[in-house]
Amino acid sequence: MSDKIYTVAITGCGKRGKVHADYFTKNGRFKVVGLNDVDQTRMDEAGALCGNPPQFSDTAEMLKTTKPDVYCFCTPPGLRLPFIKLGVENGVKLIAYEKPMSTNMNEAIEMRKILNDAGVKSVQSHQRKYNIQFQRVKAIVDSGELGRIHTIYAHCLGWMMHMTTHLADYTRWFNNWEDLEWVIGQVHGREKLTDNHPSPDYMSGFMQFKNGVRGIIEVGSLAPDTPEVEYWWRKVKISIQGTEGFAECFVGGGWRACTKSGGFREDLEEGTWDGDSEQAPYIQDIAEWLDGTKVHPCNGEEAYKDEEVMCAMIRSAAENRAITIPLGPNNEKELDILDHILPKEEH
Ligand SMILES: NC(=O)c1ccc[n+]([C@@H]2O[C@H](COP(=O)([O-])OP(=O)(O)OC[C@H]3O[C@@H](n4cnc5c(N)ncnc54)[C@H](O)[C@@H]3O)[C@@H](O)[C@H]2O)c1
Repeated sequence: MSDKIYTVAITGCGKRGKVHADYFTKNGRFKVVGLNDVDQTRMDEAGALCGNPPQFSDTAEMLKTTKPDVYCFCTPPGLRLPFIKLGVENGVKLIAYEKPMSTNMNEAIEMRKILNDAGVKSVQSHQRKYNIQFQRVKAIVDSGELGRIHTIYAHCLGWMMHMTTHLADYTRWFNNWEDLEWVIGQVHGREKLTDNHPSPDYMSGFMQFKNGVRGIIEVGSLAPDTPEVEYWWRKVKISIQGTEGFAECFVGGGWRACTKSGGFREDLEEGTWDGDSEQAPYIQDIAEWLDGTKVHPCNGEEAYKDEEVMCAMIRSAAENRAITIPLGPNNEKELDILDHILPKEEH
């Protein structure tokens, strides 16, 4: 196994930026060589987690000065393309950034082209699938115990711009990254349009996979109020149903399964979503992808397909029809579409 040390520069030292600063450093294969934020306090807090590297108020200057192997940016969803461009221009090997890929499909298409043309790898934090409760359910699914899988139902109370690509990613992962044929969607409520993760209050939709599996996604205020946990960010469930049983996992922790051959099993305590369980292996896989020994399971090509699901659901709600995948560019940005179609008056 390689012991090469990769250098990392980080933009955005808020909640996720600190997690990245911390776990890149704990891994031992990475050295954080620069931090960048518009907020001095956050840079100081992140610096304390990664050996107090040089701080920069200017992103371009940080990348030009430090020339890192990895550029990591953890900024709000509206800030993506300029950082992708800066990373590529400064010759980085890999860009690690946060979900969702973008707030609109046109930007996602451009980001993907820039990365692919330059041969720069990218990963996006859909890291929940590393957690043990996800792995338990994946092992049951892959064992064939559920018979023919026909439905994957994922839902949460968190809203669209936060959660849709997470749920699309895990639905597609449980279905072994099968391609999609079409997506259909509906939206409700405009209160969250002004949130820092702008969204309808609720969105639901169906995903038709080429292998016949149906994915169902619900995100936001009207989604089912399960599982029975107090912290509402943890009200997230992914359920896989087949001809011979079902298996489901909860993002905050716990899983259960009931199958013809294996009977009923559950462990509602097993698993959580802390950094050691999900961020540590996510970072380790970045090292191994850079070494060339594996492809990262949160790679940018899959993240692009998760973005397609979110944007296709919005277009479907606007056009009252199923939207064929892959998705092309659009004349109007998806958030502008939402602003047009969500009624301003309550009925
Ligand atoms: N993968 C996950 O599990 C997960 C969890 C939470 C959030 N996220 C995502 O991570 C991203 C960031 O969320 P967060 O919770 O860390 O937000 P945050 O507000 O805590 O941090 C964002 C940081 O970016 C900085 N910033 C903003 N504009 C900047 C600029 N132009 N240059 C430099 N720095 C700038 C802010 O000052 C702030 O420190 C979002 O896209 C969010 O959806 C992912």
